[in-house]
Amino acid sequence: MGRNLARNIARHGYVTAVHNRTDAKTRALVEEFGDEGTFVPGYTTQEFVDSLSSPRTIIIMVKAGAPTDAVIDELAPLLSEGDILVDGGNAHFLDTRRREAALREKGIHFAGVGVSGGEEGALLGPSIMPGGSEHAYATLGPVLEDIAVSVDGTPCATHVGPDGAGHFVKMVHNGIEYADMQLIAEAYDLLRHGLGRTPKQLAEVFTAWNSGDLESFLIEITARVLDKDDPTQEGVPLVDVVLDEAEQKGTGRWTVQTALDLGTPVSGIAEAVFARALSGHAEQRKAAQPVLPGPAGGAEGSGGFVEQADAEQFVDDVRAALYASKVVAYAQGFDMIRAGSQEYGWDVDPGAMATIWRGGCIIRAKFLDRIKDAYAKSPELPSLLLDPYFADAVAKGQEAWRRVVVHSVNAGIPAPGFSSALAYYDGLRRERSSAALVQGLRDLFGAHTYKRVDRDGSFHVEWSGDGSESQG
Ligand code: 6PG
Repeated sequence: MGRNLARNIARHGYVTAVHNRTDAKTRALVEEFGDEGTFVPGYTTQEFVDSLSSPRTIIIMVKAGAPTDAVIDELAPLLSEGDILVDGGNAHFLDTRRREAALREKGIHFAGVGVSGGEEGALLGPSIMPGGSEHAYATLGPVLEDIAVSVDGTPCATHVGPDGAGHFVKMVHNGIEYADMQLIAEAYDLLRHGLGRTPKQLAEVFTAWNSGDLESFLIEITARVLDKDDPTQEGVPLVDVVLDEAEQKGTGRWTVQTALDLGTPVSGIAEAVFARALSGHAEQRKAAQPVLPGPAGGAEGSGGFVEQADAEQFVDDVRAALYASKVVAYAQGFDMIRAGSQEYGWDVDPGAMATIWRGGCIIRAKFLDRIKDAYAKSPELPSLLLDPYFADAVAKGQEAWRRVVVHSVNAGIPAPGFSSALAYYDGLRRERSSAALVQGLRDLFGAHTYKRVDRDGSFHVEWSGDGSESQG
């Protein structure tokens, strides 16, 4: 990704110094792509740093964690006050805050910059989420906005906020990416193993969905993956030979861990992370298969799931459930961005994040335009689900959504993303929640007190005494 980002920058006319700890890689970049722009190879860190004019701007693209610290430790002594050091990797935002504070003491501007779009995006135009100081952005911004992809003439790069804000938003982007992929996988599972549709037939279904409200990069590539045959065996779908254990590098897990600290219910992302974890417990799953029965009459394969006469209706129901669940996942992600922004004093503009996610990144989707519009109309929107367009879209889909969840339960095909999104929707909209009972229980066993609907203050019942209520 680093190599492609350097090529993208050089292709835009910027003289680009490049350095890799492996000489051969630096040399190969210049030899292979030297005609794309002006590259200045640096074969040692010192040579690389010396080749830059002051104040220097350096982008590092290395593995998050210890490797990033190692590179910073190597570079920092060679830098001068006013230089800008950019981390374009998937760093944890708390690491970015720590690094920014430490380098600020040395007069170095450290900017944590989220870059999405994979290797191809880095070359052809990623979505960029830059954090760091206004000062750093004044230098960096024009370059980043130049190399980012543009949608309707607007670059998919904007200053997110100080210190760790850019990496925080990138982390949430990845969390949403997990949730979105989980929901797509559930839709596939229900249609494949519930209705008995083949991967090729489902490729057509996803292609059709991609021309409606669900239009997005992830839906588009779902069709491609489902359409693909195993390159080593004729007529065997690739999806049938890929091991069903999802891996993760950690950004989804970080999103959920952070959300727990912020008290933000990102249940869609959490379900996605846990579903990946469950998929990876291969031994446990193998041991469970012969022991744990599914529902009587539950269907794996066609028949018994929905009447074949209703099959087309079911396909459309799944589309509606996918859209509604996706709106919930994004609503939760945007809630988390607001919570993080408040906690760390970043002043992140959610509408601007929707704007820069419209192109280049993995979650790019048509409906991000709607999210951008929702926040433009109402910057303080309490939840994306309350924007009139989304409220209406989800309300229209809710009967279908409920039918899909019921079918999945009856068939024994897990759809934790769909069902938890629906539970969140119901939890949000109901006038009274079951938490009143939780409060009663807490008061009984621990004298934790409760508040009342009709009076201010904290109250406690003398549970083991005369049963009267006292005010704390
Ligand atoms: C992006 C991607 C990128 C990475 C994924 C994969 O925005 O370009 O999100 O950062 O490929 O995070 O993550 P997992 O390996 O955890 O699925």
